[in-house]
Amino acid sequence: MSAPRREFAPAKLNLTLHVTGQRADGYHLLDSLVVFLDVGDVVTVADGPLSLELRGPFAAELAADPDNLCLRAARLAGRDAAIVLEKNLPVASGIGGGSADAAAVLRALGATPEHPEMLGADVPVCLASRHTRMQGLGEVLTPLPALPPLHLVLVNPRLSLSTPLVFRSLARRDNPPMPDALPDFVDAGALITFVAACRNDLQPPAIALMPQIADCLAVLDGAGAVLSRMSGSGATCFGLFDSPADAQAARDRIAAENPGWWVAASGLAS
Ligand code: C5P
Repeated sequence: MSAPRREFAPAKLNLTLHVTGQRADGYHLLDSLVVFLDVGDVVTVADGPLSLELRGPFAAELAADPDNLCLRAARLAGRDAAIVLEKNLPVASGIGGGSADAAAVLRALGATPEHPEMLGADVPVCLASRHTRMQGLGEVLTPLPALPPLHLVLVNPRLSLSTPLVFRSLARRDNPPMPDALPDFVDAGALITFVAACRNDLQPPAIALMPQIADCLAVLDGAGAVLSRMSGSGATCFGLFDSPADAQAARDRIAAENPGWWVAASGLAS
């Protein structure tokens, strides 16, 4: 018997997400700055027959059925395990949840399957959980040098959006990539200036499908965000603030004024 292994599954955030093309099989080519946060789910893996127990604030939104990404990850690794998932992040919300959980199960099992992308395009980047430039379908990974601290507020309107539908609703699939050479992000200002000059190409189609995303961005702007943007295919949006105190104050105000929303202050994972 070995001791249970606990793995943090940090939220993934797309600071930028450029959709630069589409392959014949329909999958899209991406160019994205992906960072990991200090909020996330927690996976615990113990010896035993394959099973999954869900706990935490968003457990009720998931089913412990065979399609659950944690169970699929263990099956891909060819391993039995008693898995407990503490679901702290909203489900299907553009911040990686399911992919981060699957990657955490693989890490906890010490498993390195040949094709982790079979679990989802974001699983390879989540396996390392390092700030990364992600290209191709999500498999071309260039780790970024250490980043300056960022002070974020995450806002989710508690509505979920279908990722394939957002991709299908893109007006253009051949948008320009980020510059080949990234600048040195010497401080938060340099990073924010760069991010502001980039885009999330999925944001306009996501807003067209779900106008509440525009409300989230407007509320972040109104609370003093230096920059606000959607992550992934939505619906979670993030705001960047000047200091942890500003972010916390904005979080408290947004949460008080929008009791139905999920709102969290966060920094980058260390
Ligand atoms: O890989 P994952 O299950 O996260 O992808 C969900 C959906 O998002 C895919 O079925 C596809 O419609 C779309 N997608 C895409 N191009 C990518 C990643 C995802 O079109 N690079």
